[in-house]
Amino acid sequence: MQNSNIQILVIDLGSQYTQVIRRSLRYLGFHSIVLPPEKSLNWALENKPKSIILSGGSASIYDKDAPKIPKEILDLNVPILGICLGMQWLAYLNDKDAIQAVQEGKSYGPAEINFSQNQKSILFENLKEKINAWSSHGDSVKKVPAGFNIIATSKEGKVIEAMECLEKKLWGVQFHPEVDQTEDENIILNNFVGKICSCVQDYFKKDVVEEIRENTKKVLGDGIAIIGVSGGVDSTTLATILAPALGEQLKAFMIDTGGMRKGEIEKVKEIAQRAKINLQVIDKYKEKFIKQISTTIDAEEKRAKFREVYGEVFRDVAKSFNATHMIQGTLATDLIESGSTGESALIKTHHNVDLDLGLKEIMPLSDYFKFEVRELAEEFGLEELVAKRQPFPGPGLFLRVVGVPVSDELLEMVREADYEVAEILKKHNLYDKISQTIVALLGIKTVGVKGDGRVYGYSMIVRTVQTTDFMTVKGFYLPPEVCEEINSTLVRNPKIVRVLYDWTTKPPATTEFE
Ligand code: XMP
Repeated sequence: MQNSNIQILVIDLGSQYTQVIRRSLRYLGFHSIVLPPEKSLNWALENKPKSIILSGGSASIYDKDAPKIPKEILDLNVPILGICLGMQWLAYLNDKDAIQAVQEGKSYGPAEINFSQNQKSILFENLKEKINAWSSHGDSVKKVPAGFNIIATSKEGKVIEAMECLEKKLWGVQFHPEVDQTEDENIILNNFVGKICSCVQDYFKKDVVEEIRENTKKVLGDGIAIIGVSGGVDSTTLATILAPALGEQLKAFMIDTGGMRKGEIEKVKEIAQRAKINLQVIDKYKEKFIKQISTTIDAEEKRAKFREVYGEVFRDVAKSFNATHMIQGTLATDLIESGSTGESALIKTHHNVDLDLGLKEIMPLSDYFKFEVRELAEEFGLEELVAKRQPFPGPGLFLRVVGVPVSDELLEMVREADYEVAEILKKHNLYDKISQTIVALLGIKTVGVKGDGRVYGYSMIVRTVQTTDFMTVKGFYLPPEVCEEINSTLVRNPKIVRVLYDWTTKPPATTEFE
């Protein structure tokens, strides 16, 4: 899509959710562009968008290096919706006293938003009187600037949750309408871009596969591209989309790191065969991975070691194929969380982001989220094999041995436990309802009794979560009888004395433990 045709400009103020705004707009049928504040004004002057959205962000407007909105953006006569920090900027730029700096620590999590003001704003048309919304912020708008109306509140009217100034075409919401936890079914964003800004739908799902193929071919030219296929949804779907379009120019391979799930290699071979991907499995680096990773128990260091070896292996493979390019199934979430996009803070180093291999990188899925890739997989008939499989991280079981150095023995214990838990969940028809199941070994020893003897052993943690995009997750609570079955199965291992369950939401807990 040509830049000049894009109707919606999203200005990134450093929120973890900026790309989620973009995803929600796509879901509603609209392309958008995300730009940092310093590039936004020129782009807007040149391209004349119909709609501007200011993302949230973790900074305070009082921070010296907070991302700043160019004031001229307000003079373009284009409707603006400010979300969270974006709303605070709109208030501040119209009244320097509007913002109250954080008083009692930041607030995270759900808030009940009340829209029952004198007259419902067009922004909230078709919404119930009250909804639960995700609201995480430090500072807040303590009074709205002159000319603005309060259009939503929480905490019995004490907290201003939304404001509007029809004359200046400015709207602000303190909560995040873009995330799944806000129960608005995307109505707020749709009202803004559709009703307020009169944007016309310009994003159609059927064009996505052709767009991915065309863009990749254009970048690749007559080069040779390698693609690592992990059997996960992203890389497998991408290889399936590209295989017929690139033919011999695409070299697909799988690295057996030793951190795979039970039966994984066979499964991936089967998937590749069905998806008509010509796949090579490379297993000669297994020892190297474990040797390097077992030198540390620190989560980020482990990821760095994994990346290091992974990079070396990729380099060897690339050389053997005379590759010029590397194609990666990296998703928007991966880039957001490793801080590779916009202003959002680094959360974890993903194993395949920004590997410097001396090859040109192509990331055809970097705009997309998991559920969108699953939909593509379904289109290719990969539903049973790929789309319905739960995701699994590249560094695999290495991330699931927590607090003790990884060893062959401990890896084998989590591998077996992971398999057993999955089998139990499948038996109870729960597996497909859960977005991801994480079984990890907790390397802190505690006391137990087995038979007549004292055992000083490890615990297994079972974490089952529900989500659509992994930017936020909710715990998936297991019924007691299923927990009991899992407990009695996992403690059969003589070294396991306890089974713990973790249903913490993200944020603050990430999905994986490391
Ligand atoms: P977190 O723990 O960041 O996980 O909430 C979100 C999703 O990403 C997966 N994940 C990874 N996938 N390489 C991957 O391919 C990685 O390094 C990686 N780290 C996390 C995680 O399993 C979950 O589905």
